[in-house]
Amino acid sequence: MNKKELIYEGKAKWLFETDEPNILWVTYKNQATAGNGVKKEEILGKGKLNNQITSLIFDHLEQKGIKSHFIKSLSDTEQLIQKADMFALEVVVRNVAAGSFSKRLGVNEGTELDFPVLEFYLKEDELNDPIINEDHIKVLQLAAEEEIEQIQQQALKINQALIELFKRINIRLVDFKLEFGKTADNKIVLADEISPDTCRLWDLNNNDRLDKDVFRKDLGDIIPLYQEVLDRLMQLEKETMHNV
Ligand code: TMP
Repeated sequence: MNKKELIYEGKAKWLFETDEPNILWVTYKNQATAGNGVKKEEILGKGKLNNQITSLIFDHLEQKGIKSHFIKSLSDTEQLIQKADMFALEVVVRNVAAGSFSKRLGVNEGTELDFPVLEFYLKEDELNDPIINEDHIKVLQLAAEEEIEQIQQQALKINQALIELFKRINIRLVDFKLEFGKTADNKIVLADEISPDTCRLWDLNNNDRLDKDVFRKDLGDIIPLYQEVLDRLMQLEKETMHNV
């Protein structure tokens, strides 16, 4: 498979065409951004860690029957993925109050929520990704009613699988962001990435942050934290393989 033209540059990844029309080549960047790109830094090694973590998580979800656009990892920072027509939506699932939820609703950070709370945001940098509801999604024709339902069901299933996965490596899954797209055969699949850039991950023992909040709030170096998440996932994978 050969890498062809660059077709999209996001904050964290480049997307290239390949000689296969429905397959894209992704390269993870080292760039870290926060506050819709207001804070921006090159962090050596971040691309590699997020590629590796995302690849392990997408493989795990596949084993749990959850389809994603992920095909395979190519190198430290590169993946092959299925081309998908992306919904202009960010889907956030929350298990514990934190971040914008705590701020907007005045709920103390760390409060366990009685059930997973699902939120939609419009993916539009110029508007600062505003929170939206299902009526907004329908009236803006971002997704049809059945598609919204499918996205919600998949997001909750992914949440359950990820809560269990992270619990096994002593991590509390506080909240995370997902993106979905439609493949050439019209299937809705999980896309983008799942990494400490897109999740809040707290150590179960001491609530230490193992995610991008450390960068957002200038609390220190994120690389050892992302490495810790990867090491724990790899250790779990080794143990699980050992038991098969
Ligand atoms: P929030 O509390 O800032 O709304 O974030 C909720 C979750 O979504 C958190 O795990 C971080 C993730 N997230 C992204 O991945 N990208 C974004 O642009 C935003 C705003 C949040």
